[in-house]
Amino acid sequence: MAERGKDKSGMGAGLPEGREKEYTHQSHYIHGRMMSWKWDFRHHVVPPISQSVTYRLYSSSRGAMGFERFPEPKEGEPPVYIYDRLDEPTRAMLEENLAFAHGGEVAVCFASGMAAIAAALGVLVRAGDRIIAHRLLYGCTHSLLENWLPRLGVEVVRVDLNSPDELDQALNHRTRAVYLETPVNPDLDVIDIAALRAVVDEYNADRAPEERAYLIVDNTFATPYGQQPLRHGAHMVVESLTKDVGGFGTVMGGVVVAPRELYDDLRIFRKDFGGVMAPMSAWNILVYGLPTLPVRLHAQQETARKVATWLENHPLVREVRYPGLASFPDLEVAKRQMVSPDGDYMPGFLIYFTLHGGLEPARALLDFLAREAYSITLAVSLGQVKTLIELPSAMTHAALGEEGITEGGLEPGGIRLSVGLENPDDLIRDFERGFDWLRAELGERTLSPQRRSG
Ligand SMILES: Cc1ncc(COP(=O)(O)O)c(C=O)c1O
Repeated sequence: MAERGKDKSGMGAGLPEGREKEYTHQSHYIHGRMMSWKWDFRHHVVPPISQSVTYRLYSSSRGAMGFERFPEPKEGEPPVYIYDRLDEPTRAMLEENLAFAHGGEVAVCFASGMAAIAAALGVLVRAGDRIIAHRLLYGCTHSLLENWLPRLGVEVVRVDLNSPDELDQALNHRTRAVYLETPVNPDLDVIDIAALRAVVDEYNADRAPEERAYLIVDNTFATPYGQQPLRHGAHMVVESLTKDVGGFGTVMGGVVVAPRELYDDLRIFRKDFGGVMAPMSAWNILVYGLPTLPVRLHAQQETARKVATWLENHPLVREVRYPGLASFPDLEVAKRQMVSPDGDYMPGFLIYFTLHGGLEPARALLDFLAREAYSITLAVSLGQVKTLIELPSAMTHAALGEEGITEGGLEPGGIRLSVGLENPDDLIRDFERGFDWLRAELGERTLSPQRRSG
């Protein structure tokens, strides 16, 4: 998936310029272009890993040239690598492939999803500027926006971005970023990116480029194969690669996909704040994560659909939110937005559900599963081959506090399930045991539909 048509040597397995559209993205994810102007490795079938913190410079003028060319290397000229934190080839290859996967101009990888989010916002805002963000966000993003950016004089306004009108009203002359996740972590709201872009375009219409607002979408839940926000109007995409893109729960990483005008600043931000992705992490994602993503996603969501359907029909379950169910509230937007580059609807691998009785039975169920289940693991994170379950209000979203939970509309008893690659029957078997135990332990009265859920 690396830069197209740059190699004129005719060597190696490359697509002739202009012919890449004849192949599916599923195959692009496996082969990429596997040839990069960032590094000549055309004789390898698997791209080699480069693990060198610093680079031999041969002469002081070569050293000076390297610094001169940073942060914007000249395309087509062999890069002068100096020091890992500035740039290095394994990560650079992953960046080319991620930019292509998203249909974006450039991608810059970071040490984690949070480092990527901090950079995406960090290159846009100055003291006095405003960020408008959705009312519900992943706990650490919430903490970044509520605890850290205001200390630097950045104003953060939280609204319900399901409503373009709320965005319209919150925009002021210093707004530089509109920030959301879709699907939202953890309640899986699917927010209409194109509708928000229309509002942002109106705001930007008579503004100088440096005063414009950027629409930023955290695409972690969907992954690039499941949704490409740039095609729907986002200016920038951020993603935690730690999740289903990495895929195996062994490495951390994050990416910002952005227009070229932000490339230098993103790379300088990374150099100076230091949140670089390790080459070993980049290599793992390049060699294992990305090539298997389409196949894993298809398998995960087939299982998720079966599990969600089973949960929806269980009498102890109050509500199931899964974009693959006919009952999903945002189905119309999801069907438009959550589509693979090969044209398939991609409802994803995450399920959000609540029980009758709310928080108490939710905690009890999770404790039971932690003790007794084989195929379901109580753990935070998501997008691994193992199915993971957690209680956002007490875990991933604990940073919201009581106020943030109420204002974000998060149910204290909401359960997040990240479906892996197990057989769906095994997952259902573990849930069945959990629900049977719950019924015996807490009794029908606690779990009856009449009781208000927390
Ligand atoms: C939606 C979302 N964005 C960002 C992050 C942060 O990613 P990382 O843990 O790689 O920093 C997470 C982590 O769970 C997430 O769920």
